[in-house]
Amino acid sequence: MWFAYRDQDWVLQDISFRVEPGERIALVGATGSGKTTLTSLLLRFYEPQRGTIRVDGRDVRDLDARALRRRMGLVLQDVFLFSGTIEGNLRLGNPGLDRAAVERAAREVNAHEFIERMPHGYETAVEERGATLSVGQKQLLAFARALAADPDLLLLDEATSSVDTHTEALIQSALQRLMRGRTCLVIAHRLSTIQDVDRIIVLHHGRIRETGTHAELLERRGIYYRLYRLQYAGGGRGAPPEQPDEPWVAGAMPAIERFTDLS
Ligand SMILES: Nc1ncnc2c1ncn2[C@@H]1O[C@H](COP(=O)(O)OP(=O)(O)OP(=O)(O)O)[C@@H](O)[C@H]1O
Ligand SMILES: [Mg+2]
Repeated sequence: MWFAYRDQDWVLQDISFRVEPGERIALVGATGSGKTTLTSLLLRFYEPQRGTIRVDGRDVRDLDARALRRRMGLVLQDVFLFSGTIEGNLRLGNPGLDRAAVERAAREVNAHEFIERMPHGYETAVEERGATLSVGQKQLLAFARALAADPDLLLLDEATSSVDTHTEALIQSALQRLMRGRTCLVIAHRLSTIQDVDRIIVLHHGRIRETGTHAELLERRGIYYRLYRLQYAGGGRGAPPEQPDEPWVAGAMPAIERFTDLS
């Protein structure tokens, strides 16, 4: 599949991969490598100039775009919040959900606590674009919204802004719960997010350059390995482990987008 926003200015080139039901795939790559563009194509905000994207074997161009988006649990890089209550925002796309279901989802993803601490709890008004909420809080709300919809397909584009270590831990554990039992395509900006996904796809300048598990890619000593080292070293924790299966030390690590020159 090939895609350009303009003319022959290819942003994605010769992209081809397949996600099996129940599989968890992560997409990683430096800033501007085309990760978000790929999700926009999957959601039919744009169409590829060459090639096709299929969901359940059907060309997405033959599917109703709204039905397609409804089927997928979406957590996009810029979390969409409208002016209304917290509860209303969590119910977006699922008007039929009752309060108990909304609250259950919020508890599952560690959002309930901070919501309860707000002046009017679930009835607290949210300003447009969530101006009064922190980046981490917005992310947790997006998780709760996605979980409440209980999608079989999850598309997640992790927020790039860094959050404090405590929030980071909340997000990580919420993410594990959100991914459980679903087919997932996760764009990770922190490699600690995706250490145990089934397959990692490394995008570089719009091309797939490496594919494999975390351990396989480290062993390869290629782009992923360099990303890993940069994040690890940037976290001030010294050299990365020599053995690829040593656990990643999660913490306040810089996100990948700070590093653009990896080749
Ligand atoms: N709407 C757009 N119109 C034109 N060019 C765009 C548009 N959106 C993105 N691009 C360009 O396409 C390339 C890929 O951008 P994309 O947002 O997909 O990168 P990304 O991998 O998601 O980066 P990040 O890690 O910063 O989120 C970049 O060169 C970007 O400038
Ligand atoms: Mg992006």
